[in-house]
Amino acid sequence: MSKGTFYITTPIYYPSANLHIGHTYCTVATDVMARYKRMRGFDVMFLTGTDEHGLKIEEKARDAGVTPQQFVDKVVAGIKELWKLMNVSYDRFIRTTDDYHVSSIQRIFKMMYEKGDIYKGSYRGLYCTPCESFWTESQLVDGKCPDCGGEVKYAEEEAYFFRASKYADRVRDLLKSGSFLEPASRVNEMINNFLDCEGGLQDLCVSRTTFRWGIPVDFDPGHVVYVWLDALFNYMTALGYCNDAHHDLEKFWPADVHFVGKEIVRFHSIYWPAFLMSLDLPLPKKVYGHGWLLLDGGKMSKSKGNVVDPVVLAQRYGVDALRYFLLREFPFGSDGNFSNEALIARINADLANDLGNLISRSAAMMEKYFGGVIPEDREGGSEDGELLRMVKELPSRFEEQMEKYAFQQALQEVFKVLSRANKYIDETAPWVLSKDDGKKARLGGVLYNLLEAERVCVTLLKPFIPESCEKFRAMLGIPADRFGWDDALLRGVLTPGTAVSKGENVFPRIDLKKELEALEAIHATKKPQAPAEEEKKESTVEGVISIGDLQKVDLRVGKILACEPVKKSDKLLCLQVEVGAETRQIVSGIHTWYEPQDLIGKKVLVVYNLAPAKLRGVESAGMLLAAAVGDRARVIFLEEDLPSGSRLS
Ligand code: ME8
Repeated sequence: MSKGTFYITTPIYYPSANLHIGHTYCTVATDVMARYKRMRGFDVMFLTGTDEHGLKIEEKARDAGVTPQQFVDKVVAGIKELWKLMNVSYDRFIRTTDDYHVSSIQRIFKMMYEKGDIYKGSYRGLYCTPCESFWTESQLVDGKCPDCGGEVKYAEEEAYFFRASKYADRVRDLLKSGSFLEPASRVNEMINNFLDCEGGLQDLCVSRTTFRWGIPVDFDPGHVVYVWLDALFNYMTALGYCNDAHHDLEKFWPADVHFVGKEIVRFHSIYWPAFLMSLDLPLPKKVYGHGWLLLDGGKMSKSKGNVVDPVVLAQRYGVDALRYFLLREFPFGSDGNFSNEALIARINADLANDLGNLISRSAAMMEKYFGGVIPEDREGGSEDGELLRMVKELPSRFEEQMEKYAFQQALQEVFKVLSRANKYIDETAPWVLSKDDGKKARLGGVLYNLLEAERVCVTLLKPFIPESCEKFRAMLGIPADRFGWDDALLRGVLTPGTAVSKGENVFPRIDLKKELEALEAIHATKKPQAPAEEEKKESTVEGVISIGDLQKVDLRVGKILACEPVKKSDKLLCLQVEVGAETRQIVSGIHTWYEPQDLIGKKVLVVYNLAPAKLRGVESAGMLLAAAVGDRARVIFLEEDLPSGSRLS
């Protein structure tokens, strides 16, 4: 019987490039929660999807020489593949380009307009043309655009606004009213920075006229709907709000929890409730703002290129090992530093050793001492008390943490029991008991207690590492229909006569040093991160190159160590150029304008991946960059003291 419904969502991701481990983190956490709630008997709706409109996507598509729809179709296919690989059990996937969503947003925008909560005004402010963004004075950095560092100028643009100010008091009450926004530490941040700041909550600009890739405002076609209004309503349109594509709004709305990264808590805890208040709709029960995975202390970012590819990690170590690590290593509400070293250390210590080794050892002893069949005769002993008590208490301790979204602590609870079980083996020393025929029943009791402890742990770990738990289930002989939450509350589910087998090694130990070297080598070949397939495409627009075209050229900083004229040539100089650890010989036709002494010691830009050639019989591997000034070539010397070998990006 269903215990009720549970509706949980991830953010809908921008398909502007392939997703990285940070997105995987949020989606895996949502998946674990969805699986846990299903195991508890809830009727779960787990929604994820993609947020496909906006200037950034329009530009990316233009760079790739394809239409925005073609661009997103390809990236979205890759995202779905990633979720399949990561064993993500979503129930519904929404794309904001889905027809039903588009028409729903048009209706929603109109309703808010007719209500007077959206009005036409004009946007005045400091405008950065390349970024197509308005900024306030206080957002500028040294008087320049905070995004690109370019000049800004005063501009005015006709736009629609949402009367957010009208809902400021109700939103403040909501935030203060307890558990709407978690972790609680984020509440004051929102109130102080956006509600109680100077000027209070400002009305929000909810339309744009400067690009086309968005949902048109149907009653004013020059405007497209602001991407956040379009995106936030996905949580309801996906259930059938303002459309007939789905019919489960009544069943699942309001959402039980939206999992979102901390940088988008503002949209979810201020504007999203205000939009819903405007339409007199019920508010979600909770927004949980999780922390970031950091790399070298900075946020991973598609645009920064410092991302970690989840596909590589999952393929090398297994999907479950990666899922486990993400939720075990970092407290969900705080930031955490990602490192391959931590990943491997965690897999070895917890999964290979405490869990995998424990189960295979116990199963191997069952095979060795009892022919792999759970015996009838079992005797208790003085060592049993603590282990049995811990196993009994485990489900409620685990539940307490899971209900708080404290995945790390929930896993710690399970691993405390696994460690205790490992210690129990040392205390009871089954190999000693096995030598004494009179202790056979005690040996049976010890092994049985171990298997039962393992059964309960593996059942609770199912939402985190589903495939591996299935393997452990088979090893431990747990009947498939006795592998649910209620069974974890019971003792003695494994019955005498049950076959137990050692099976395969589910989590083999990883050689830390070797693996780190292998990962480093993979990383080096991928640096900067391989562009999405779309980006690699050559542009089809004449005179325009795509970012992929540009990335084909490997430009590096080089230092000229030596230089001499090429024999029998007036124009050619032969240079020895230090590029990182390597010295390259480059022949350049610049002798008309430069003498060797003008060049030696100078830092220059080198085309590093130019096919080698012979000039006047002299090998040349690369090219120096120079500007054509009139009929002269001027080599580009670098003022900045950049290390040789640095790659330009
Ligand atoms: O913000 N660490 O999409 P997005 C942890 N389309 N989580 C991370 C992360 C990191 N380093 N990087 C990304 C958008 N995330 C909007 C959302 S919702 C109506 C619209 C996760 O593709 C985190 O959950 O930029 C973050 O909120 C989300 O990816 C942002 O994905």
